[in-house]
Amino acid sequence: MTGNSDRRIRAADEAGIAAAAKLLRAGKLVALPTETVYGLAARADRDAAVTAIYRAKGRPDFNPLIVHVPDVIAAERLAVFDERAWRLADALWPGPLTMVLPLRDDAGLAPAVTAGLPTVALRVPAHPVMLAVLKETALPLAAPSANRSGAVSPSLAMHVAQSLGDRVDLILDGGACERGIESTIVALRPGGGWQVLRPGPIGVNGLADILGTRPETGGGRGIEAPGQLASHYAPGKPVRLEAEQAEPDEYLIGFGAIAGDINLSAEGDLAEAAARLYAALHEAAASDRPRIAVVRLPEDGIGAAIADRLRRAAA
Ligand code: TXA
Ligand code: MG
Repeated sequence: MTGNSDRRIRAADEAGIAAAAKLLRAGKLVALPTETVYGLAARADRDAAVTAIYRAKGRPDFNPLIVHVPDVIAAERLAVFDERAWRLADALWPGPLTMVLPLRDDAGLAPAVTAGLPTVALRVPAHPVMLAVLKETALPLAAPSANRSGAVSPSLAMHVAQSLGDRVDLILDGGACERGIESTIVALRPGGGWQVLRPGPIGVNGLADILGTRPETGGGRGIEAPGQLASHYAPGKPVRLEAEQAEPDEYLIGFGAIAGDINLSAEGDLAEAAARLYAALHEAAASDRPRIAVVRLPEDGIGAAIADRLRRAAA
């Protein structure tokens, strides 16, 4: 396993944060920790900077990016808020919730960020490093997960270095991401309906409680979040789900009583399992065994988001 000797990895202290802000203002790419995963950030108001994100990730340009802002006031400059959006923001920001809202005409975002959609995906992250950089740049920052498109997301700085190599100008090391799984994406429809486009740390029931209505059912809108294509989070080896034990050539990712080669949570705690999921997939990918097996995990709460990511890793 590669250590943290990579010279582009830098501590997320005051000097590191200042260096990151300076690079971002100049239109460069910086990888930053958030509470979900590491993001690959660029200023969202400049097309060349945003285009560099797509290039570095090898990401199809029809797949729009999440824009990060320091607070709801900054968010309101970019999107049209209604009462529901205010309520969600009030309850869950800063935090792992991304809202898809109507884009304001005067938002000033680079067209590449939204890939031509009339909506924008916004989030106020709950991480002191990301928030400090947002405040210091005073810019909205586009930031997808800091990995090559389709690969396993990064929950450690070294994952970013391994996946993006020298395609990123600076990686701020803020340690392991606490949540470990990308934000829940909720789309608030102009008619009053809403949908979860990507399951994440905030469960659908929690959203329904705050909004007072159930989500729209039926997948009528198809793959609106194109990042939700089937093959994603792929570790580069076959993945077998719901394993009870490992075959001789498999690296087993365990949970609870089934320890495996790496245990997502010996206590059977799903939040801990989410936090460790991507690191486990990276370990499994780096092991000398050609195949990966994962035991069954409960699908309640954040277990639904874990199951979603594992299905895509196995697709
Ligand atoms: O936790 C997270 O959300 C992380 C951290 C870095 O903040 N970011 C992240 O970004 O996961 P990314 O780019 O990997 O995922 C963006 C997702 C994609 O599935 C994309 O299709 C969807 O958001 N998306 C972005 N803008 C959208 C829009 N206007 N309408 C629908 N989906 C949108
Ligand atoms: Mg991603």
